[in-house]
Order: sequence, then C-alpha cells, then structure tokens
Amino acid sequence: MQVSFVDLRSQYQSIKKEIDGAISRVIEDCAFVGGKYLDSFEQNFARYAGARHAIGVGNGTDALFIALKSLGLKQGDEVITVANSFMATSEAITLAGARPVFVDCDEKTYNIDVRKLEQAITPKTKVLLPVHLYGQPADMTEIMALAKKHGLMVIEDAAQAHGAKFNGQKVGTFGDLACFSFFPGKNLGAYGDGGAIVSNNDQLALKARMFANHGRVEKYNHEFEGANSRLDGLQAAILDVKLKYLDQWNSRRRAVAKIYDSQLRGKVTIPFIQTGCESVYHLYVIRLKNRDKIASILKSKGISTGIHYPIPLPFLKAYGYLGHQPQDFPVAHALKDQILSLPIHGSMKDEEVHYVIEHLKSALEAAHE
Ligand SMILES: Cc1ncc(COP(=O)(O)O)c(C=O)c1O
Repeated sequence: MQVSFVDLRSQYQSIKKEIDGAISRVIEDCAFVGGKYLDSFEQNFARYAGARHAIGVGNGTDALFIALKSLGLKQGDEVITVANSFMATSEAITLAGARPVFVDCDEKTYNIDVRKLEQAITPKTKVLLPVHLYGQPADMTEIMALAKKHGLMVIEDAAQAHGAKFNGQKVGTFGDLACFSFFPGKNLGAYGDGGAIVSNNDQLALKARMFANHGRVEKYNHEFEGANSRLDGLQAAILDVKLKYLDQWNSRRRAVAKIYDSQLRGKVTIPFIQTGCESVYHLYVIRLKNRDKIASILKSKGISTGIHYPIPLPFLKAYGYLGHQPQDFPVAHALKDQILSLPIHGSMKDEEVHYVIEHLKSALEAAHE
C-alpha cells in the first residue's frame, strides 16, 4: 500500500463536479481578477472565520507581509515570533522592514512558550506574531494579556489552522489581523497559491486591502505605494466550493488523530492538545527516538512522512547574522531531531491509518532492537 502525506487527487474526485463547474463559470465570465467570485469567497470566509473582513491575497506569505505593513512598522521595530515555524513567518517580518525576535517553543504543545515571551519584549517591540502551529491554537489568553500590558499589536499566523478554536473562539479573531494560507496542501487549499487576511478592525482591514492592490481603492487613484497581491477569481471560486467541506474534512482529521492517539500512546510522544484548544490537525506530529531510521523504514513500506521543521528558524543560514546558539532555544533545538509528521488529511481512509500504525509499531520495535 502507498500512503501519501496528503491526497489532493481523491479530495478532488469527491467534489469534481462542483469544482469543474466553478472553474468553467469563472472562465465563461472572464472574472479572473477581482469580481463576484472573489467577493463571494471573501464574504463566506469572513463569516466562517467569525471576522468582519476577509481580504484575499496572493499567498500566505504575502498575507503576513501585508498585515505587518498595515501596522506601519518602521526600520528597527521588533516583531516577536516562535522559533519553530515555516520560514514565511519570519521572512515576512524582515520584508516588512522589521527585525524578527525568536522565542523558544513550549515543551508540550510546540507552540510559542508564553512563559518566555515577556522576557523577549523590549522598548522596540511592536508586534507579537504567534503561529497556530500544526493546527493547534497558541495560548491566546496569555498572548493577548501580554499585548495589552505592553501596548503591542498582535498578528496571528493561522496558515495551518483554518477552523481551529481556542476556548470556543475561532483562531483569526483574537489579534488585530490574522493571516491564512491556501497553499494546496493546507486544510483549506487552492489549486495554486492563495492567502487571506482577516480582521475585525475596519481601518486595518481597509489599509490591508489597499496595500494588496497598489495602495488604492479606486482605479488609478493611489494613496500610497503598496503591492500587487490578489487572490484570483479561479482560486476564489475553487476555495468557495471547498470551504463548504472544510468542517467535514477537519472532523475527519480529528478522527484520524484520535485513532493515532489511541494506538500510539505510550509508544511515542503523541501530540499534546492544551485544554480549551480544538486543533484541526494540519499536521500530526509525534516525537520519538531514532526518528530518521523509523522514517526510512516507513518510506520502504510506502508511507510518506515529513519533518516540520528540520531546522528551527533561528538556526537557518538566513538568520546567521543574529548569532544564535542552540542553548538560546533548547526546546526547538531538541525537537528538530525527534519530530516526525505522520500522514493525515481529510480524505484519509481507515485502512491507511491502520497501515501506518502497524508499520510504525514494527519500525519502533526494529529500531530499538
Ligand atoms: C506557518 C506558516 N506561515 C506562513 C505560511 C506561508 O504561506 P504560503 O505558502 O501560502 O505563502 C505557511 C505555509 O506554507 C505556514 O505554514
């Protein structure tokens, strides 16, 4: 059996008629940039996220960059984020003209360690940028309390967490702005690049919308310099179809996680979900010894796995100039050799889940012999 990490083909097959119809309509209407399909998706996604505004943009990285630019950051401002995330999180900070400041991850959730967060705040700090990593919300109670205490803005990186909840509230509605990615493999994925910014702040939402469209509201009347980063009509129409299935696919991810949990508990470190958090399991990340050996045994059995991420952000060559050492981020440093992401997605079949479990169990025995 082959178990792929994500299975976009079977997802497409399950909704083919609706997707094909949506694509044809956009082409027939020539609604390629802007237009009714984008408007519809923006409205539906805002409603889904529980926010007043959603602005479609070119991709999740741009969403972060534009959100940061909308806050009017200046050279030398600092933005605090987590050591374990995808490069886009910190890259957007630098692109927006600020300086990334990293905080270690929590030993259990792998999200930003809120106990270490306050120590990283300096007079130059302007923004806190938590990531809802692997689909599990960061501790937004603590983060919002710290932001309030120190007068900071908050941008949520929700690229991996469409639909996740913290104390019953959807992620994306805690901070001043929140950013989503619709990269194809995400819980809600387009058929190409795509992203969105959501916000309950009318002024910031307007600023972000203008920034994404050359600093304008009206054609040729540019109020400031921005960028060209728009979600195109085809992607918006596809996403509008897929949005209707997102809760169903997220439920399936949770059901798969439950099977993994029950079968793997005590054998490896299974994901720890903080009380009050509803994860959407963008990734199911276990922690174990002999990670590389086990991953290669699984590969030989046709099972794809991933590592998210093999090099924590502060240790990337790109951030060599910050001069960080392993002891600055002991948790992130230890995790990088021990974490393994197992296949999980909304179309995963029970037999695939059990096949992974069976071969992981034998690989664990073989690796420890
Ligand atoms: C945590 C995180 N932030 C940002 C991004 C950037 O999104 P995109 O790939 O759509 O630019 C991603 C996706 O890859 C991500 O996982």
